[in-house]
This record gives sequence, structure tokens and C-alpha cells, in this order.
Amino acid sequence: MAIERTLSIIKPDATRRNLTGKINAKFEEAGLTIAATKRLQLTKAQAEAFYAVHSARPFFNDLVSFMISGPIVAQVLVGENAVAKNREIMGATNPANADAGTIRAEFAESIEANSVHGSDSLENAANEVAFFFAEIEIVA
Ligand code: PPS
Repeated sequence: MAIERTLSIIKPDATRRNLTGKINAKFEEAGLTIAATKRLQLTKAQAEAFYAVHSARPFFNDLVSFMISGPIVAQVLVGENAVAKNREIMGATNPANADAGTIRAEFAESIEANSVHGSDSLENAANEVAFFFAEIEIVA
């Protein structure tokens, strides 16, 4: 299996509840390496740009408002099959449908406040990693 990079975001509902360490433990226990990390407060323009692919969806404004409601932690996760593995660890978008033991089953509050984001393809992962990080900041 290939070593991949994926972009993870710990969302404002999780930073507000000091869940960063517990969420990162899930990534590390699954064999993913946190190769870059930064805590930041997105501006509205940055959140709109990051989620531009969803701009036509009915929840777009709610999603942007939520993502700028507090600090986030953006991270690069590296490991075998990292894109799919991270999505597995996260669980389904709606926590009501998330498998037991996943981050969203354990920590998410709702389909909006669902604690984590993860890239959904290798191509999107490369773009999303570049949105937040310079190459010099990524050390696997
Ligand atoms: S996914 O993960 O892309 O397949 O999920 P999707 O259902 O397409 O949702 C895309 C992102 O939008 C968020 N979302 C919502 N936010 C607010 N309100 C509602 N109703 C809602 N439904 C979906 C969802 O958490 C996804 O965010 P990210 O950051 O990509 O995980």
C-alpha cells in the first residue's frame, strides 16, 4: 500500500471542548503520523475558499459560519492509505450514522458540529494540504 498524505481539520466544536489530544490519539493509534500541525482562526474569506466546492449546497453559509466560530487545528496526516484510513477513523459525516469507536461517534455533536474534516481523495488531499502548509512545514 502507498504512503499517502491527507489533510485533517479538528473543528471548532472539538477545540472548544479541548478534545485535540484525544482526537490525535485516535490518529496515532491507527498508525498515522502527524507530520504538520497548526492552530488557527479562519477568516470568512478563507473558509469560503476552502469549502468552495460546496458553495451551491444549502448548508454552505451554516458550514462557513460554524468553521469560523472558533479555533481549528489543521494537520497533515501521513501513512499507508492515509486518505481512506483517516475517513474510517473519522466515521460518517452524520454522527448518528457513525460506527462505534470512530471520532464522530464518540465526540461529534451534530452533522454540522462533527469535530473533524478529512480529505476525500488523494487529489483533494494535495490541494487541501497546500491550502494550509508550505512543504518546509511538513516533516513525516
Ligand atoms: S463529505 O464528507 O464531503 O462526503 O460530506 P458531505 O455530506 O458532502 O458534507 C460536506 C461538508 O459539509 C458539512 N455538512 C454540513 N454542515 C452544516 N450543516 C449541514 N446540514 C451539513 N451537512 C454536511 C459536512 O460536515 C462536511 O464538512 P467537512 O468539513 O468536509 O467534513
